[in-house]
Amino acid sequence: MTNKTQVEQQSHPLNSWQTAEIQDRNERILKRPKTLEVKGLDKSFEHKGKTNKVLNKIDFTAYKREFICVVGPSGCGKSTLARLIAGLETQEAGHILVDGKHVTEPGPDRGMVFQSYSLFPWMSVKHNVMFGLTQSGMSRNSAESEAFQWIDLVGLTPFLDAYPHQLSGGMKQRVAIIRALANQPKILLMDEPFAALDPQNRLKMQQYLLEIWQNIDITVFFITHDLDEAIYLADRILVLDANPGQVREVLNVPLPRPRAEDTLLSPAFMATKDYLETLVHPPQPELDFEEKLSMVRLVSVNAQVPDIF
Ligand SMILES: Nc1ncnc2c1ncn2[C@@H]1O[C@H](COP(=O)(O)OP(=O)(O)OP(=O)(O)O)[C@@H](O)[C@H]1O
Ligand SMILES: [Mg+2]
Repeated sequence: MTNKTQVEQQSHPLNSWQTAEIQDRNERILKRPKTLEVKGLDKSFEHKGKTNKVLNKIDFTAYKREFICVVGPSGCGKSTLARLIAGLETQEAGHILVDGKHVTEPGPDRGMVFQSYSLFPWMSVKHNVMFGLTQSGMSRNSAESEAFQWIDLVGLTPFLDAYPHQLSGGMKQRVAIIRALANQPKILLMDEPFAALDPQNRLKMQQYLLEIWQNIDITVFFITHDLDEAIYLADRILVLDANPGQVREVLNVPLPRPRAEDTLLSPAFMATKDYLETLVHPPQPELDFEEKLSMVRLVSVNAQVPDIF
């Protein structure tokens, strides 16, 4: 007898794109150790004496070296979820575990990269990368040689002694990423890290990130508004609904790896994007003419303006 979940999976619109190779890869991911477990997570904020439920019973797991993207309408609680995992907020109910340990505060097992550049403006590239290392007790010399390796990995050796204001947006984000990775976190939490970049630099940064991720032992939790970006990067996409934020679906991305620029043009990519659009931006009912007109009337007309009709 088939249960409800099996029936849903069998009839999923993207099933025809899930090749045996992709399914096999996904099954192997789900057998890896669990890096991040989020169980029954609730979060509310108080605003003007009212309680605003932001996250409702969030459940999901990210496995070792998995790349998870999170999409959902603005205000559905994506950043709040990242801040809870980072230990910067406290949940109302539920649990967050990283490598089996309960999250209660920020810790070195979680690195963060935000949209706004989180570098120390008064420190050079080298010192920004060295900062976390020396803070965790590494000697200056070891921290310096470690920092050199990371900076070389992202091609910024000529900018070792440059300050953040002397770097482009993409360069700053490369430094922010390696600064977080140098501390060897288990999981890298990224909240719209490339949203401020132009499309060309954004694609370059996505490729950089995939290259780094393929070469080191890191699980990535990546929030984005850009569906192309989510599909290009992720193994699975966590789709959230709003009011309150809850899990709508965890989608297996039906694309093989490694991904390259032409991935963005493949039929499987297009089909995934069409499907995600229906989840994240459902079609709105078309306003009728009277409704449109009543919106236009909200603009007050100066009585002195001559009637042109
Ligand atoms: N510190 C806070 N105090 C009160 N309300 C908050 C606080 N932080 C977030 N919120 C509210 O929680 C809700 C979710 O915010 P959050 O920033 O997590 O959404 P988001 O999905 O990241 O949105 P966006 O896509 O626009 O970045 C919003 O209604 C926001 O106003
Ligand atoms: Mg946000």
